Amino acid sequence: MKILANDGVSKSGIAALEKEGFEVLTTTVAQEQLVNFINENEIIGLLVRSATKVRTDIIDNCPGLKLIGRGGVGMDNIDVTYARKKGLHVINTPAASSESVAELVFAHLFGGVRFLYDANRNMPLDGDTKFKELKKTYANGIELRGKTLGVIGFGRIGQATAKIALGVGMKVIYFDRKIETAAINVPFFDGQSVSFDFNSVSKEALLKEADFVTVHVPAQKEYIIGKSEIALMKDGAAIVNAARGGVIDEVALIEGLESKKLSFAGLDVFESEPKPEIKILMNPNISLTPHIGAATGEAQDRIGIELATQITALLK
Ligand SMILES: NC(=O)c1ccc[n+]([C@@H]2O[C@H](COP(=O)([O-])OP(=O)(O)OC[C@H]3O[C@@H](n4cnc5c(N)ncnc54)[C@H](O)[C@@H]3O)[C@@H](O)[C@H]2O)c1
Repeated sequence: MKILANDGVSKSGIAALEKEGFEVLTTTVAQEQLVNFINENEIIGLLVRSATKVRTDIIDNCPGLKLIGRGGVGMDNIDVTYARKKGLHVINTPAASSESVAELVFAHLFGGVRFLYDANRNMPLDGDTKFKELKKTYANGIELRGKTLGVIGFGRIGQATAKIALGVGMKVIYFDRKIETAAINVPFFDGQSVSFDFNSVSKEALLKEADFVTVHVPAQKEYIIGKSEIALMKDGAAIVNAARGGVIDEVALIEGLESKKLSFAGLDVFESEPKPEIKILMNPNISLTPHIGAATGEAQDRIGIELATQITALLK
């Protein structure tokens, strides 16, 4: 019983699968070689993250394949409905990475309000000759405490982000098209916890009130934030996108940053991923990460174990 983890899988996931008698191959096979590799090696389970695409060519031409597993949430790289119609199991691990993505949002926010994205670019170049000038350039930071975080999309990651915000002392407001009310329980290290009740506000109200907006919706057909939404936002507000490229209109974002309407943006995902636009990459007011929201040891361990548990239940 062979499983190919084409975009890698955690050691804990491999160990859990091997314990159940599966053989796990971690070779990264090129997209165009996948059909041959799967058939020649009698692979029954194909595990992917976001890099490998599982389209109809693989689904139609690999008769021995029984399961497709996505380590993560979004399954936009898999033809899910088609695969299920053909009798394949298609699984993912929706909850495993929420905390890691939420922490990355705060890495962008904390970095943003103290200009770390820019200081880290300029200190290696001028830190020894223009220290005082740089000190002045980055002197007008602000605190997150007491500010308002607007969360668009209040599912798993939106709520995990809200928990951190509450711990930092921020006010949280949210807009979700389905979740009208939510109770958030914030646990502390010593077993204490505090609960908060929320009601969804309108997108417009959120954009007008929030000092920082973070987006946590799945891939969309239309932008959630474009030119008219940015116009509604407070002067000097900031936006973080660790959801999906195409959720925010990057052209409108650049305009918002260049006109100083927005103070900064934090982006983990990009419209033209894996080749983000040069205007985005070179903008001095964008904090950039290459789609690493779920890329922590803890999240990858949880993903591996969750996949192994589901695979064992379905294929053994
Ligand atoms: N950066 C990363 O590495 C990374 C990692 C994991 C997930 N993600 C992305 O994060 C996003 C959220 O994941 P999640 O686990 O929280 O999903 P989720 O399904 O738990 O929550 C999404 C929420 O968005 C709401 N929603 C959908 N469309 C909306 C709209 N147009 N307006 C308002 N609300 C809307 C839904 O009602 C839902 O409550 C997904 O896009 C996922 O792909 C990114």
